[in-house]
Amino acid sequence: MVKSNQIVVIGASGFVARNLRKYLSEKNIKLISISRNDFKQFKNELKIVSKNYDEKIILPKIKNSDALIHLVGIGKQSITANYDMVNVEFTKHIVNLSKKAKINKFIFISGLGVSLNTSLGYFISKYRAEQLIVNSGLNYTIFRPSYIVGKNDLFTKYLKKQIKKGKIEIPGSGTYSIQPIYINDVVQILLQSTLQIKFKNKIIDLVGPDYITFEQYVKLFFKGTKTNIKKINLEDVYHTAITNSKSDFGVDDLNILIGNFKGNHNKLRKITEMKFQSIIELLKSGRLL
Ligand SMILES: NC(=O)c1ccc[n+]([C@@H]2O[C@H](COP(=O)([O-])OP(=O)(O)OC[C@H]3O[C@@H](n4cnc5c(N)ncnc54)[C@H](OP(=O)(O)O)[C@@H]3O)[C@@H](O)[C@H]2O)c1
Repeated sequence: MVKSNQIVVIGASGFVARNLRKYLSEKNIKLISISRNDFKQFKNELKIVSKNYDEKIILPKIKNSDALIHLVGIGKQSITANYDMVNVEFTKHIVNLSKKAKINKFIFISGLGVSLNTSLGYFISKYRAEQLIVNSGLNYTIFRPSYIVGKNDLFTKYLKKQIKKGKIEIPGSGTYSIQPIYINDVVQILLQSTLQIKFKNKIIDLVGPDYITFEQYVKLFFKGTKTNIKKINLEDVYHTAITNSKSDFGVDDLNILIGNFKGNHNKLRKITEMKFQSIIELLKSGRLL
């Protein structure tokens, strides 16, 4: 008898996790999903709610699962949640739990731009998390995404709100580029990587086929709407980000944007053998609106 696949997803109510859980559930895969707060369950899903991912609660339930997909992370710090606590120490806890639970496969989402030479606090925390995983002895795959686009991601929701206001502000020149990838492609890749040996112990850029300027992205998004696009001084945007924790762009959102990071899409296409959604075509189709 073929043993049915069982996948653990942590950070269950986040953007990627919600889309992934829905996809896996539709594929009839047995899911164990963990979050700090209550959430709505899908078919075939066991729900665990635990504020601190308490070993006593979690370990017995996730034992011998086929894979764990780690989707917990923050891209903005506060007094109560900093990069070291959430991106590094929490990952250490999950790696330890996964070893004890004899998880077959560990999947982590890092970030495009993470490298040994980085000087950015956010990337340093992701790099340290990657190293914990690489040195854990677990069978791993680490993905480094650019911006993951979907109907319900934070940035898309923000852009949609701007349509109602009739204006959108672009930080600085807008000539820096991004390499977005569609969430529907991401969830397929995550599932593939739990099943296929060719992903074993690899670090792979999670980037789409189009490398486009931020200005181009915004213009395509708002095409056909009555939204006024205005460029604003980068110093002013940074000043707001530094002084107001509720600013639309966080300091590291800006750092990442202006970093102009480009990933290796060909490598991703070769290993997945998938046909990818062009983000330019997606924007032109108006399907994100
Ligand atoms: N979306 C992108 O474009 C993008 C790009 C690059 C990298 N990434 C990485 O991909 C992963 C998933 O991204 P996402 O867009 O789905 O992020 P998200 O919507 O912000 O979800 C992240 C989840 O992490 C959990 N979390 C946050 N703080 C926590 C804490 N202190 N303790 C325990 N859990 C905590 C929360 O899950 P619960 O509320 O369920 O507890 C939250 O929903 C993250 O690691 C992110 O850094 C995303």
